[in-house]
Amino acid sequence: MKPKSGKYITFLPDERIVPVGQKDESVLDVALRNGVNINHTCGGNGTCGTCLLWVEEGLEELHPRSEMEAEMAIDRTFRKEERLACQIHPIHGLKVRIPSGS
Ligand code: FES
Repeated sequence: MKPKSGKYITFLPDERIVPVGQKDESVLDVALRNGVNINHTCGGNGTCGTCLLWVEEGLEELHPRSEMEAEMAIDRTFRKEERLACQIHPIHGLKVRIPSGS
């Protein structure tokens, strides 16, 4: 169910729609604050890759990869829609899929 107003993002496959909080939060922060489970072995430091998500809507509006995320993307051959939850900030209407096993 969508919040009545404000900004929100959606986590698939469970279709969890949650409000976006503070400006500096990452998508991982928003997920954990709302009880959406995403692996985050390195604690959100951008070094483990376990928080990988597939962006299904809003990819064009996300900021470019940080240097750290870009290096990992090259090393692990991420597709452009594969982003690290701890390295992206939520934007209204963002829809991301948590891979099975995460
Ligand atoms: S939590 Fe480790 S890279 Fe995001």
